[in-house]
Amino acid sequence: MTANTKKITVTDIQKKKNKEPIVAITAYDALFAKIFDEAADIILVGDSLNMSFNNKQDTLSIGINEMIYHTNAVCAGAKQALIITDMPFGSYTNEDMALKNAVKIFKKTKADAVKLEGGLRVANTIKRLCDEGISVCGHIGLMPQFVRFEGGYSVKGRDPKTAQNLINDARALEAAGVFAIVLEGVVSDVAQAVSKSVNVPIIGIGSGNQVDGQILVWSDMLGFFDKFKPKFVKRYLDGANLIKNAVQNYADEVKSRAFPNEEFEYKN
Ligand code: KIV
Repeated sequence: MTANTKKITVTDIQKKKNKEPIVAITAYDALFAKIFDEAADIILVGDSLNMSFNNKQDTLSIGINEMIYHTNAVCAGAKQALIITDMPFGSYTNEDMALKNAVKIFKKTKADAVKLEGGLRVANTIKRLCDEGISVCGHIGLMPQFVRFEGGYSVKGRDPKTAQNLINDARALEAAGVFAIVLEGVVSDVAQAVSKSVNVPIIGIGSGNQVDGQILVWSDMLGFFDKFKPKFVKRYLDGANLIKNAVQNYADEVKSRAFPNEEFEYKN
């Protein structure tokens, strides 16, 4: 950390409600966490790593030990951003299990908070974690851990009943003690209503810009993940092609013996 960088805390994030938008991004290793650290308020060690980093179909098969491994890597790279670790599928099916696993994450890493998917259903669990001093970020709307249950990914809040349920979920999470809520895949006017209904920051992904911040999966926004591209993802870089071209360039130069030339040689 340089003299003028200061570690961002959950309190700093809470204070951003209705103010300057929060910038959040995922990272799974130290190399990229270090690069993202300056621009991001929050780095999420998302279980999306199972898809983009491990090339799996969904997030479900990742376990707590892998999340701990990647969180330690991210914490080694990022010195400023707040670090949130996703609690993986099946690691918080009851309050005791959730507490045991969240404590394990806190003891074995320097994560600042954990994230759980669910609204009212997990409110008691979240309260239990908060009561023990573990900061929690909620996650409602499209919840990737429900992909098999729901038979795919779909945008939420399209009718008045589901819109009201989202507001009820957000309020339940706020009452349980979350410091922020990720709101994924929600139609933008409903996302705005959810944001207005609570005093904790709403960090959107695919939920329009009338919320308190945005999060994107790094490999989506930098063009490394090409299995599918949801409508909400803006590609800020054509990463995969840039790297493919660079590596092809290297391969061509190795084959033609253009690399290494004298510049890259040791001489007596
Ligand atoms: O796992 C993840 O990367 C996430 C984001 C989609 C918010 O939960």
